[in-house]
Amino acid sequence: MKIQAINGFKDILPEAVGRWQYIEQQARDIFERFGFQEIRMPILEKTELFVRSIGEATDVVEKEMYTFVDKGIAMRPEATASVMRAFIEHGLHVQQPVQRLYTIGPMFRHERPQKGRMRQFHQLDAEIIGASEPRIDAELIAMGRMLLDELGLNVSLELNSLGCPVCRPPFKERLVLFLEERQEALCDDCKRRTRTNPLRVLDCKKPSCRAVVQEAPSLLEVLCPDCDRHFVEVKTALEELRIPFQINRFMVRGLDYYTRTTFEFLTADLGAQAAVGAGGRYDGLIEQLGGPPLSGIGFAMGLERLALLMEQQNNRLIPAKGMDIFVAALGTATIAFAGQLTHALRHQGAKAAIDYSGRSLKAQLKQAGRINARFVLIVGEDEWMKGEAILRDMQTQEQRPFALSGSTEEQARRLLAMVWTAAAP
Ligand code: HAM
Repeated sequence: MKIQAINGFKDILPEAVGRWQYIEQQARDIFERFGFQEIRMPILEKTELFVRSIGEATDVVEKEMYTFVDKGIAMRPEATASVMRAFIEHGLHVQQPVQRLYTIGPMFRHERPQKGRMRQFHQLDAEIIGASEPRIDAELIAMGRMLLDELGLNVSLELNSLGCPVCRPPFKERLVLFLEERQEALCDDCKRRTRTNPLRVLDCKKPSCRAVVQEAPSLLEVLCPDCDRHFVEVKTALEELRIPFQINRFMVRGLDYYTRTTFEFLTADLGAQAAVGAGGRYDGLIEQLGGPPLSGIGFAMGLERLALLMEQQNNRLIPAKGMDIFVAALGTATIAFAGQLTHALRHQGAKAAIDYSGRSLKAQLKQAGRINARFVLIVGEDEWMKGEAILRDMQTQEQRPFALSGSTEEQARRLLAMVWTAAAP
C-alpha cells in the first residue's frame, strides 16, 4: 500500500517551485523597499496565544485549529499573533519604536479543502507595529497593491472600518436587537452567532442571511469621531496614492483582534475563495497580550492563491532554471577526470552536472537537454588521451575544441570564462 499525503496537505513539486520562489522574491524585494525586516517564528505556540488574540468564538479557534489538547499547544493558524508574541517577548519596541516586520511560512487550519483552500497553506505576512497614523494604513495597503501589480494580478480592493471599543459595543447591541427580530430568516450558524459573534452574521454567504443583513444597521454610520476621522483620512491617503478601492460595510473578518481599518484583496477567478489577501488594524492587541499599549496594522496574502491566480490570469513565464554545463564522460577511463573537473567547476560557482553511468553520447546529450544545460563538455576517451575535449553550445549546436591543459582548477576557470562569455545576454 502506497502512503499518500494527508487530505488538504500538498506537495509543491519542482515544476511549481519556480513560481513560488518568484512570488517570494518579489515580496521580499517590495517589503524591503518599504523598510520591512524578516522575522521567523516557530510553528507551534501555546494555544492560549490564539485564544486571546484571534478570539475564542471565532471559527479559526473554535473549529479549525490543530491543537495538542493535552499539551496546551497548537499549530499556528495565522502569523499575526505569533509576530506579536515575539515582539513583546523580545521587547523589540525598546530598540526601535516603529517595527516593520514580515514573515513567510506555513499556517494550518482544519477547513474543508477545495481549490485555493488548504489545511496547510502559506502566507506572506507583513505587520507595522507602533504607528497609528492613517497614512500608515494607506502605505501598507499600497505595499500590498504594489506586490499584486508586480505579479501582474488583477485583484480588487475592499475597505471597511470596524470601529473601536468605544463605538463597536453599542453598535453590536443594536445589531443583536435587529438580528433577534429576524431569527427565523437566518441560517442555523447565524442564529447561534447572533449571541456569540453577531458581526459575523454580516458576512454570511447564505442568500437568506444576505437578504436580512442588507437592511441591517451600518457600523460606518455610528463610528465614534476618532474612528470616523481615521477612516476619512485613510480613504484620502489612498486616493492620494492613487489606489482604487470600494467600501464594503459588510466586511467583518474572521479574527476578533481587528479595530478600525480592515481590507481585503479580492478576485472572482478562484471560485469560492475570493480573498487573495486581507488584513487590518489591531490597536488593542499588543496590550491584550501583555505588551505595551502600541497599535498595529498588517496583512497576509495566501501564496497558494497568488500562485493559482498567476497561472490563471497571466501565466507569466518564470525563467526556467537550468544548468550551466553538463560534463559528458565517455568511456570508463575518463570518469575520474570528469568527476574532478565537475567538482572544480562547482567550486568556482558553476551549476555543473555529470552522469557517471557511462551511457552513450546520444543518451547523455538527451539528459543534458532535459536538465536545460547551456553547454556540454564532451570528454571522449581518445581525445582525452590527446589532452582535448569538445565544448558544445546547446543553443546554437556549435562545437569547438577545448584544450585539457594545466591543472583541473585552471581548466575549470578557462571553461567557465568561455561559458559565461557565451551565455552573457
Ligand atoms: P486571513 O484573512 O485569515 O487573515 O488570511 C489571510 C489570507 O491567507 C487569505 O486572504 C488567504 O489568501 C490566505 N488563506 C487563509 N486561509 C487559507 C486556507 N485555508 N488555504 C489557503 N489560503 C488561505 C489573517 O490570517 C491575518 N493574520 C492577516 C493579518 C495580518 N491581519 C493583520 N495582520
